[in-house]
Amino acid sequence: MSRLVCVSNRITLPRRTAAPGGLAVGVLAAMRDNGGLWFGWSGELSADTTAPTAITERDGVRYATIDLTQMQYDRYYKGFCNTSLWPLFHYLSDRFRYDHEWHDGYLAVNRLFAARLAPLLEPGDRIWVHDYHLIPLARELRALGVTQPIGFFLHIPFPHIEVLRLLPVAAEIIRDLTHYDLVGFQTEADERSFRAGLARVYAGDAPRVRTGAFPIGIDVDAVIAEAGAAMRTDPVRRMIGGLLGRRLMIGVDRLDYSKGLVERFSAYQRFLERNAELRRKLIYLQIAPLSRDDIQAYSQIRQALEQATGRTNGRFADTDWTPIRYLNKNFPHGTLMGFMRAAQVGIVTPLRDGMNLVAKEFVAAQDPADPGALILSSLAGAAHELDGAVIVNPYDLRGVAQAVAAAFAMPLAERQQRHAAMLAALRRRDLHAWYRGFLGAIDAARP
Ligand code: F6P
Repeated sequence: MSRLVCVSNRITLPRRTAAPGGLAVGVLAAMRDNGGLWFGWSGELSADTTAPTAITERDGVRYATIDLTQMQYDRYYKGFCNTSLWPLFHYLSDRFRYDHEWHDGYLAVNRLFAARLAPLLEPGDRIWVHDYHLIPLARELRALGVTQPIGFFLHIPFPHIEVLRLLPVAAEIIRDLTHYDLVGFQTEADERSFRAGLARVYAGDAPRVRTGAFPIGIDVDAVIAEAGAAMRTDPVRRMIGGLLGRRLMIGVDRLDYSKGLVERFSAYQRFLERNAELRRKLIYLQIAPLSRDDIQAYSQIRQALEQATGRTNGRFADTDWTPIRYLNKNFPHGTLMGFMRAAQVGIVTPLRDGMNLVAKEFVAAQDPADPGALILSSLAGAAHELDGAVIVNPYDLRGVAQAVAAAFAMPLAERQQRHAAMLAALRRRDLHAWYRGFLGAIDAARP
C-alpha cells in the first residue's frame, strides 16, 4: 500500500499537548491507522534558516518539522493566513485586511515547505495537504518535479466568489487549487462556491478539477467511552459538585471571533432578563482557551468577552450564584467530554464554521437514557447533518435566547428521539469514513 504523507501548517508532535481543532484530531487518526509521514511547522520560531528538518518517529508515524522565522510567522501566519484568509473565508469581511507583503510571505513559506518536503518523498507516496495555509503547495511541489498524487482538504468554509473577490489575489487562490488531483470541502455548499469561483476565473474554459464534499466526523465510540469514564474522575466530579444541583449549559470554543461568543453572551443576558424564574436554577459554563492571541482582533474579542461576562455577572449574580462561568483554560479531551455529558444543554453558535466538531462531540458524549439538548448555529457545517439540534441563527439574539429556554424545557422523550437521530447521523459519517472517503477519492483520481 502506498505511504500517506500529510502536510499541515501546524502538527501535533508526540508528547506535546494536542493542537486544538478538527484538523489535528483528523490527521492524527489517519496517520495512526495508515502510518506514514506528517510534515509541518514545529510551532517554534528560530532565526536559523539553515537548520535541518527535524525528524521524530512514534507509533509508526514519522514527524518532520521545520521552524519559521519571526518575519515568516508575522507575514504568513498572522498576516495572510489569519488576517486575510481566515476572516474572508468565514464571511466576516469587516475583519478582513490585506497587505501584499503578507501575500509574499505566504508564497515564500509555501515554497519553503515544498523545498523541504520534496527530498523526503518516495515514489509511491500519496500526498494529502490540509487547510488554507497551504493552498499554493501543489503548484510549488509540481515545479520541483513531484509527480505523486496530491489531494487538498479545506477544513474551513470556502466563500462565495462575491466575497472572495475582496481579496486582490482571489484568482490566484482559485488557480492554485487546480494544481491538485482532488480538492475536498466540508460541505456541498463549499464545493459549489469553489465551482462558481472556477467558472468566474476561467470564464467557461476551466481546467478539469476533481472536487468532493467530505464532511469530517468524530470517532463516536471513542467519545462515548471517554465521556463515560470521565464521570468518575476528580475534575468532572468537582465541576458537578460546584453546580449545587443547578442545571448546566456548556459551550467549548477556541477564543475566536468566528465562534459568535459575544453574540452568544448577549443572547444569554437576554434569556436571563426574560426568564426571571429560571435565573438561579441554571449555570452557563463557557470554556474558551486562548488562540492566536498575538493578533489584534483576537485580543479585542477577549476584552469584549471579559466585559460582557463582568456585565452579566455584575447585574444578575447573587451571593451564592453566578450566571456565567467563563474560563480561558484548556482541559484534557476526556475531561471536556465528561463536562459535556454532565450538561443539560450544549450551545454551539458560530457566525460561520467549516464543520464544528464540538457539536458532534456534545451529541456523542450524552447519556442516551437522559440526553442533553444541542443548540446549533445554522451557519456551521455540522447543521447540514445534525437536524435533531435546535437550529438557530447566531445573529438573532432573541431567537437564541428562546432556544435556550426551549432546550432546558425539552421533554425527555423528545430529547431521546433527537439524540438517537443525531447519533445515527454521526455513525454514518464518522472520522474513519472521512479519511477513507478522501483517500479513496485520491486513488480514484489517479489510479
Ligand atoms: O481548521 C482550522 C484551524 O486553523 C486549523 O488549521 C488549525 O489546526 C486550528 O484551526 C487551530 O488554529 P491555529 O493552528 O492557528 O492555532
